[in-house]
Amino acid sequence: MFRIRVWDLPTRLFHWALVVSVTGSIVTVKIGGNWMEWHFRCGYAILTLLLFRIVWGFIGSRYARFVHLLARPSRIISSARGLWSTTGYSGPGHSPLGGVAVLALLAAFIFQAVTGLFSNDDIASEGPLAFRISKSRSDFISDLHSSNAVVIYVLLGLHVLAIAYYYWRQGRNLVGPMITGSASPPAGGTSDPERWIGIQDDAALWIRALLVLAACAGIVWFVVSTVPPRLAG
Ligand code: HEM
Ligand code: HEM
Repeated sequence: MFRIRVWDLPTRLFHWALVVSVTGSIVTVKIGGNWMEWHFRCGYAILTLLLFRIVWGFIGSRYARFVHLLARPSRIISSARGLWSTTGYSGPGHSPLGGVAVLALLAAFIFQAVTGLFSNDDIASEGPLAFRISKSRSDFISDLHSSNAVVIYVLLGLHVLAIAYYYWRQGRNLVGPMITGSASPPAGGTSDPERWIGIQDDAALWIRALLVLAACAGIVWFVVSTVPPRLAG
């Protein structure tokens, strides 16, 4: 059984850093009070990571690209039908249905992080861009921020359940490759070895990722530090 590299290091670090910062943002908002400051910081980290992932979807390695995530509707439907089978998707990277799930997760987080910038909690905390809009508009956006949090909980629950389901029903360990980067075709599957093309995961790619990440962090810093001094303190 051969193994290939499917996830580059930047994509894997993106994933686990997102897990840490999303967990942090949820825990800190539940504690509330002064911890809201950390809710914001986690939010800025998430914004940076999401911006990075958008760029990486165009210039990252083969299976991290949006062209790989966006399958034709007919392939998504047959991927959904294959859910109940014991073999399922036998190619490398996200399955067509998995690609849709990833795009939904990313979209929900982008919506959450952007609405957070304009939200307020009617007590002491307001997002760094809330001062740019009227209070009633900020209240409306805060409601969207709260409602979308529920969407996020549902998507995250499905995400973890789906991964457990694939392991139980189809014997596919998806977590291992998200940690080590490498995967092999499912045993006894019908996969075509020709489709299992390994990616480059070398220093040149990591440097490219670091430069993109630094630029994304710079953009987020620029956006959230536009608060006028009279409001910042
Ligand atoms: C994707 C990342 C984020 C997640 C998962 C998240 C999650 C949440 C949750 C669960 C709440 C509590 C809602 C409620 O109890 O009704 C909340 C409230 C809030 N968040 Fe976020 N948030 C994120 C990003 C941000 C960002 C980037 C900011 C601002 C910089 C922000 C600012 C706020 C504010 C001001 C509130 C209070 C609004 C209210 O009480 O309705 N959030 N967030
Ligand atoms: C806050 C929690 C989490 C968030 C926000 C999250 C988000 C994501 C995102 C955005 C992707 C797509 C990766 C990409 O292509 O860029 C992904 C994939 C993945 N996640 Fe998570 N995740 C979370 C928790 C977890 C946990 C707890 C596990 C382990 C059980 C996990 C395992 C995976 C795996 C294995 C994949 C790859 C799926 C595949 O091969 O198609 N995630 N996750």
